[in-house]
Amino acid sequence: MAVILGIESSCDETSASICIDGEIRSNIIATQAIHAKYGGVVPELASRAHQQNIIPTVDQAIQQAKITKNDVDAVAFTRGPGLLGSLLVGTSFAKSFALARQIPLIEVNHMQAHILAHFIDEPKPNFPFLCLTVSGGHTQIVLVKDYFDMELIGQTLDDAAGEAFDKTAKILNLPYPGGPLIDKYAQQGDSKAFALPEPNIPDLNFSFSGLKTAILYLVQGELKKNPSFLDDHLYDLCASVQDRIVSILLNKLRKAAKITGVKDVAIAGGVSANSGLRKSLYEMGEKYKWKVFIPKFEYCTDNAAMIAIAGYHKYLKGEFVEQDIAPLARLNV
Ligand code: KG4
Ligand code: ZN
Repeated sequence: MAVILGIESSCDETSASICIDGEIRSNIIATQAIHAKYGGVVPELASRAHQQNIIPTVDQAIQQAKITKNDVDAVAFTRGPGLLGSLLVGTSFAKSFALARQIPLIEVNHMQAHILAHFIDEPKPNFPFLCLTVSGGHTQIVLVKDYFDMELIGQTLDDAAGEAFDKTAKILNLPYPGGPLIDKYAQQGDSKAFALPEPNIPDLNFSFSGLKTAILYLVQGELKKNPSFLDDHLYDLCASVQDRIVSILLNKLRKAAKITGVKDVAIAGGVSANSGLRKSLYEMGEKYKWKVFIPKFEYCTDNAAMIAIAGYHKYLKGEFVEQDIAPLARLNV
């Protein structure tokens, strides 16, 4: 039997999970509400909150899995990419736990873990598969050849898709993080109400900065004519923005499927919780005869279950690290 404790602390969620023989038994997430009033994640505040949350979060994960600390066989932690101060808290905790209990330590790449969340529940994709990983910090198309053999074949040249949602939300006077709110309001709006540009970017790369500027100019121009423009058109604005972000993402994913010939297609990361993206991906999958994989909501945004499952697959291979391991703010998939 293999009992893995997974620890995630790369951004603003402190999370701990227990995975037993590849099955997730607990996944506790402490969300940091403090950042909302600043309109974005404040790194120093995030590190301090991780420091406060980490022990109770791990205790709860162990309790909920109905095991004790003595039962844990290995500790997996997020090494990067992420905020360095936040990563340091999870890394230091994992190292101390492993040292105290004399058990192996496993490093996990956060972007790989988002993708490996597809191996938590059935149905699981077959290798090779394509994964569109869309989060607050990343937008990538990855050709996944094996658990830890992944090739980056496209990425954003400027903002990430989650950033595009959050920055647009700010222009629309919505609180941080704006992605989920745009999703909610978009469901009541007309996606064809406002025409927004699709950037002309070569290859499988993305750009979202032009879209953000287009929305800013649109809103500024309309507000001069009608001071209550945002209140009057909020739902239509959200629907139009979401529709454009989704079409930018899916047009490149379709191109990637065509170039590679791969028909198992997945999405991962916080933005994969978006209902418009999920719906359009299913429709595209039916049209092109893909097998589509979309994670459960709780495994889309940052969580330790994805770290624990990635850790489990490294445990099976005996891929451990030593106590001198350090976190990395930047780390490729
Ligand atoms: O993966 P994640 O939890 O954290 C990072 O590693 O970045 O992703 C967070 C991002 C935020 O930008 C948030 O606005 C976005 O995911 N997000 C959404 C939705 N839920 C979360 N964006 C659009 N629609 C959603 N339903
Ligand atoms: Zn993430």
